[in-house]
Amino acid sequence: MKKGNSSTLIICFVVAMVTTACHQNNKNKMEPTRKITSAVYGEVDGKVVTEYTFVNEQGMELGIINYGGAITKIMTSDKEGIKADIVTGYESLKGFTQPTNPYFGALIGRYANRIAKGTYTIEGVEYHGALNNNGQTLHGGLKGFDKVLWEAKIIGDSALQLNYLSKDDEEGYPGNLSVQVVYTLTSNNGVKIEYTATTDKTTVLNLTNHAYFNLSAGKSLTIEDHLLQINALEYTPVDSFLIPTGKILAVKGTPMDFIKPKRIGADLAKVVGGYDHNWIINKAAGLQEAAMAYDPQSGRVLKVYTTEPGIQFYSGNFLDGTLIDTKKGIKYVKHGAFTLETQHYPNTPNESSFPSTLLKPGETYTQTTLYQFSTL
Ligand code: GLA
Repeated sequence: MKKGNSSTLIICFVVAMVTTACHQNNKNKMEPTRKITSAVYGEVDGKVVTEYTFVNEQGMELGIINYGGAITKIMTSDKEGIKADIVTGYESLKGFTQPTNPYFGALIGRYANRIAKGTYTIEGVEYHGALNNNGQTLHGGLKGFDKVLWEAKIIGDSALQLNYLSKDDEEGYPGNLSVQVVYTLTSNNGVKIEYTATTDKTTVLNLTNHAYFNLSAGKSLTIEDHLLQINALEYTPVDSFLIPTGKILAVKGTPMDFIKPKRIGADLAKVVGGYDHNWIINKAAGLQEAAMAYDPQSGRVLKVYTTEPGIQFYSGNFLDGTLIDTKKGIKYVKHGAFTLETQHYPNTPNESSFPSTLLKPGETYTQTTLYQFSTL
């Protein structure tokens, strides 16, 4: 009798523990687990670099460092619900600061993409940037916004505000430019990037983010089997230096045609050097869908929404297997990842027919881009 009582007690206790744990589990499942944490990521020029990790209610993760404002990771679910990192990155800050880092995840400025011969004229004055790419200026010059330390501030439980003051004449650009970028991880698995900037002298400005995606999270070595759709009927053809010729051509029936979803690899070999072009997003007001990428294997979908008039689709042509992310065990080979950089057209400072990239004192530059993730 006594023995029976105590075993009943033990059973009851175990059942109670399990029930409490179950309740706890259910509770955890239902309650938001949204949070932002920060940790030291390394040091640049004697200054601490911090990594901010966002987690949303669905367990999606976003990592950002204040060096270059770079995205270090985006962990999203595949169709089985298994999370993995779908952006290129490195195991540590050393990867991001190495001279051969091709702008992985970084913020790009003052001028995304190329300015022909680094030369442009504003209000009768000629300006020159560093010729860091085949005699042209690429992505802001020698030390663009991807290589500077941004001041970071956590906003609430879902956003990070980054600020940078680009001084007059930095990389040859006129005016003291005050830039703010706010990254938000939304509740429904979107990464929103909002840019604002003001200047005290007329300058040129074209800001973007240079995240490289492989939606298979490295399971497929290249992105050739991803489907891509670009909401564009036209694009800006380029010369051999990847500078727009100034013409605007229709994409229909050409290898540049992504009007309907198409395998990235389908026409890749027909494009000299691979895709590295600016598509002209079909006009609409406000934040509009510019592109969609889908990896049939993992079921992951990326939709890109933007307020910008153009989008650079780059098929990772210069990746050559020399960059390795040992943490993920990934070798970044040619076409191992792609970018969809929302932007104004390359070389606009020298093309008066393109939508203007001038920013004047008293004006506020704004651009918003949303990378929206889901599965099919
Ligand atoms: C952009 C350019 C490419 C290349 C990459 C970085 O996408 O358009 O030509 O420079 O950046 O390697």
